[in-house]
Amino acid sequence: MSEELFFPVIETERLSLRPLVTDDSERLLEIFSDQEVMRYWNTAPWTTIQDSLDFIDESNESMRRQESLVLGVYLKSTGELAGKCMLFSYDKASKRAEIGFGLGRSCWGKGYINEAGEALIQYGFNSLGLRRIEAEIDPDNRASAKALEKLGFTQEGLLRQRWEINGVVSDSALYGRLVSDRVSSAV
Ligand SMILES: CC(C)(COP(=O)(O)OP(=O)(O)OC[C@H]1O[C@@H](n2cnc3c(N)ncnc32)[C@H](O)[C@@H]1OP(=O)(O)O)[C@@H](O)C(=O)NCCC(=O)NCCS
Repeated sequence: MSEELFFPVIETERLSLRPLVTDDSERLLEIFSDQEVMRYWNTAPWTTIQDSLDFIDESNESMRRQESLVLGVYLKSTGELAGKCMLFSYDKASKRAEIGFGLGRSCWGKGYINEAGEALIQYGFNSLGLRRIEAEIDPDNRASAKALEKLGFTQEGLLRQRWEINGVVSDSALYGRLVSDRVSSAV
């Protein structure tokens, strides 16, 4: 596959999705050091600017290796970085990948993930040739479950006591959307 496929710029009405750059590191740290944003994440909140810089470097490396797509979500109106969304655990042979997203708290509840998520999903299906996109979330994460359902995902399973982070054990809910699924709520 051509390298550009893993470094796209995807435009929606209000948002621009594109690879993160070093200049994003401070805003990225602000978002992902927030305990509320990281409440249901499978890693601890970030603490230093190096966490941000490492994330940006590793993301770009994994895109160069064509293993994942990690894109910043920018507001077109102000240029502000709202958060990130990604397709990862890409399995080329099986034509599947996992989706994930996280936004800064000030950007929640504005329909941004509905808009960014659908654009990313369409890119995965149409440009990367995926047949299936899946997601794994903490079942207590109601915002994420609702966002996935609005994006046309179906809950396919529940894996009990799958994670232990800082001594807290949690289940995983698994969701999937196929390219052949009929989705009515897509933006
Ligand atoms: C999960 C997250 C990305 C959702 O993004 P968002 O842009 O706020 O979602 P949207 O505005 O597109 O909302 C999608 C739906 O979820 C609903 N929703 C949003 N937050 C909610 C909450 N806390 N509880 C219940 N429903 C919620 C919205 O009302 C909307 O449904 P509606 O259109 O019927 O009203 C965002 O809350 C976030 O970044 N959370 C922290 C990181 C995280 O947990 N990521 C997921 C881990 S995989």
